[in-house]
Amino acid sequence: MSKTITNVTVENLFTRIKNKTAKIGIIGLGYVGLPLAVEIAKSEYNVVGFDVNQQKVDSLNNGHNYINDVNDEDLVKIVENNKFISTTDFSQIQQIDVVLVCVPTPIDAHQHPDISYIQSATKNIANYIHDEMLIVLESTTYPNTTKEVMLPILMEKGHKVGEDFFLAYSPERVDPGNENFKTKNIPKIVGGITEDCTMLTSMFYKSVLNSNIHEVSSPAVAEMAKILENTFRNINIGLANEMAIICNKMGIDVWEVINAAATKPFGFMPFYPGPGLGGHCIPIDPFYLSWKVKEYKYHVRLIETSSEINNYMPEFVVERSMKILNEVKKPLNGSNVLLVGAAYKKDIDDIRESPIFEIIKYFEGHGANVFFNDPYISEFNFNGKKYVSFPLNKENLSKMDLSIIVTNHTSLDYKLIAEHSKIIFDTRNAMGNYSGIKGQYYKL
Ligand SMILES: NC(=O)c1ccc[n+]([C@@H]2O[C@H](COP(=O)([O-])OP(=O)(O)OC[C@H]3O[C@@H](n4cnc5c(N)ncnc54)[C@H](O)[C@@H]3O)[C@@H](O)[C@H]2O)c1
Repeated sequence: MSKTITNVTVENLFTRIKNKTAKIGIIGLGYVGLPLAVEIAKSEYNVVGFDVNQQKVDSLNNGHNYINDVNDEDLVKIVENNKFISTTDFSQIQQIDVVLVCVPTPIDAHQHPDISYIQSATKNIANYIHDEMLIVLESTTYPNTTKEVMLPILMEKGHKVGEDFFLAYSPERVDPGNENFKTKNIPKIVGGITEDCTMLTSMFYKSVLNSNIHEVSSPAVAEMAKILENTFRNINIGLANEMAIICNKMGIDVWEVINAAATKPFGFMPFYPGPGLGGHCIPIDPFYLSWKVKEYKYHVRLIETSSEINNYMPEFVVERSMKILNEVKKPLNGSNVLLVGAAYKKDIDDIRESPIFEIIKYFEGHGANVFFNDPYISEFNFNGKKYVSFPLNKENLSKMDLSIIVTNHTSLDYKLIAEHSKIIFDTRNAMGNYSGIKGQYYKL
């Protein structure tokens, strides 16, 4: 009996995905959810976006975009054609066939995972769950979240997974600002609770994306694969940062070292140092694993060590700045310091977890007057103070004792910085090959 029901359920969902009559819901319309919603709506599905933020919902329904990676015209078109409607009303989940969860997964002050957003989104789905529904978690999280956290909530009303509804994990790997790889062409990993869950999820992504879909045996494998990818980056950046500290002590140019090592065509992949990690992923995701693995009485070591090095970088930048100013007999106390770039990486407007906050904290702790400029960020609040982007011009640059390149945005006017800064401290090697520098130039 149940076997027959299973087949009918799978078949109905299969058909709706195949002929694109399935209605798709995206929960969480941020850096991950919005580009995904737009791709899905562009591929002819009808999409409903769910968010708790009324302002975002209103903005989208008026065709106003707030994510750089989303094309404004694409958004206007799908909104005008009624392919994409956004709402804060979760009861509309009743009409949804496939729902993708893209909510935040931060850490708390004790570096413990905060999965409350996943729990709350799952409860909203569970309130309106119905037969023939596919639910996919895309948020980054620790292994077994899908099975241990989401599944019990979804089964509370008696619906059976793999029979009445389907559940899978498929991590989002989007890299905001990356011109070559976007939501549409980044390969997907898919791990379902049952084989049918995996099959339906793969089929859905194949119907939207232009990328390979790699199926794995369980959600836990897919969850762990995502954590491995980001831990790999965290640790390799940690190594590059430690090399920068060592090279500085030894008077060797770390950038030249890395570029030399990168000529090896196998067995080496270049990672570069910087003023500290930032963003919603690389500094945070490894802690999801280190927290979870404590349950197994294991203490992760590499993650802790690389995070220690990465977390030290903002302080290292300020210590180096102090030494640089010392060479021109200037104390940091009372000096004017311009931080060029505030976003955590180049060519994006995302300031979450940016190292600029720690850098400001240390500089102001030493009595420096801190200014910032970022072409993508006009202002931000930190420690109860408002920071407004300081225009980059000849006059302003010449008032600064030190200009620090924190983020190497492509659109920055490096010529202006080179010609009118007294001292440049370049933490990204953005100007290493620039010949027109008039003042003094230092690299990380
Ligand atoms: N930003 C990235 O580069 C990136 C890349 C890959 C994976 N991820 C992962 O994707 C997930 C989402 O990240 P993001 O950068 O898109 O976050 P974000 O903060 O940009 O967007 C999340 C959205 O979810 C909304 N939200 C919060 N709680 C909600 C709820 N209960 N119901 C509905 N909406 C809710 C927020 O209002 C926000 O609009 C995280 O797990 C992150 O680690 C992010």
